[in-house]
Amino acid sequence: MIKSWKTKLIHSDAKIPEGYRSLATPTYRGSTTLFPSAAAVEDTWDQKRVGYTYGLYGTPTVMELAARICELESGTHTILTPGGQAAISLINLALLQSGDHMLLPASAYYPNRKLATRLLSRFGITTDFYDPCIGGGISSLIQENTRLIWCESPGSITMEVQDVPAIATAAHERKVRVVLDNTWSAGVLFDAFAHGVDITMQALTKYIGGHSDLLLGSVTVRDDSLHQRLGAAQQIIGCAVSPDDCSLALRGLKTLAVRLSAIETSALEIAKWLATRPEVERVLHPALESCPGHEFWKRDFLGSAGVFSIVFKPGPTQQQVFAFVDALQLFEIGYSWAGVTSLAVAYNLGHLPGRPAYDHRIVRLNIGLESTEELIADLEKALHQLPA
Ligand SMILES: Cc1ncc(COP(=O)(O)O)c(C=O)c1O
Repeated sequence: MIKSWKTKLIHSDAKIPEGYRSLATPTYRGSTTLFPSAAAVEDTWDQKRVGYTYGLYGTPTVMELAARICELESGTHTILTPGGQAAISLINLALLQSGDHMLLPASAYYPNRKLATRLLSRFGITTDFYDPCIGGGISSLIQENTRLIWCESPGSITMEVQDVPAIATAAHERKVRVVLDNTWSAGVLFDAFAHGVDITMQALTKYIGGHSDLLLGSVTVRDDSLHQRLGAAQQIIGCAVSPDDCSLALRGLKTLAVRLSAIETSALEIAKWLATRPEVERVLHPALESCPGHEFWKRDFLGSAGVFSIVFKPGPTQQQVFAFVDALQLFEIGYSWAGVTSLAVAYNLGHLPGRPAYDHRIVRLNIGLESTEELIADLEKALHQLPA
């Protein structure tokens, strides 16, 4: 066919050498996905079964990241979402319906709680919040219509490590499914399925990305029927993920082991140093005995990550705690965590039901890859902001 230059812009016959191989996964962007014939066109989300159909369900870059997370978490299917919170929403919207009840730990990531109380409640889904340290005692909270029990271990900010196997046993006796927010463990320091979890999700935004420059989430299951429900819901909700972000996350995976190991060592040294300080009442680091559920961390986890909290002794005002955070020079102030930069955020738990009475005395730290000695020196200087 003879083509004008305008047509050539769209349908080119230019040739390049074939056979290129790289260590990096190519970034395939695409909404339209080409079918070989008119009869082959179908709008099926399950691309693992039918082949590529539409960008919403993932390009090869997206599918590769999903497959890699699935392999690491020992699942059979992983669906990616545009962020960790989107993964939480997808799970709830796919698996709950009007009249259902769910149990959430009081220590859950706050937007997970807000989803339950402000959105799912409008659709007739009820939620009760439970003490994250409840273990097998969760049986007494399970109702006839309970469909999901969420775990988050360790919990956000207050860091309680949960007895996930005990919760899973109690849940399964009543045919209730267990979902775990496995973000802190990066999906590798805690084997969710081996501990009885049915659905594990992560904010890949954190350790998998690892550089504070992307937002992604994952939902991993071992059960085909769960996969079908999640995939069908993702199609309807339309939560597509960016292949560029997946490409960054694939790169992040390559250094995850060394980042986690360096961060673990540094965070532990800093946590132990903080535990010796007179201003500090308690260090909430799962690998220290002072953290609720430490015994479950010891029993169930393969290591520790770099996020933990400190609780100051009663005395400092909210302003003095803010002054402590503001005085830090190496720790930046900001949400999200698990990047290479250390972060500090002060919280006030005073208004939250079911949380320990730490009020405004709690500060969460994310340890990055700076020199441990310099981070300790930075903390030591900032502690002067607090009353002795
Ligand atoms: C434990 C936990 N789960 C989920 C999320 C949500 O992830 P994202 O920020 O990617 O939506 C966060 C974010 O801070 C988190 O800390």
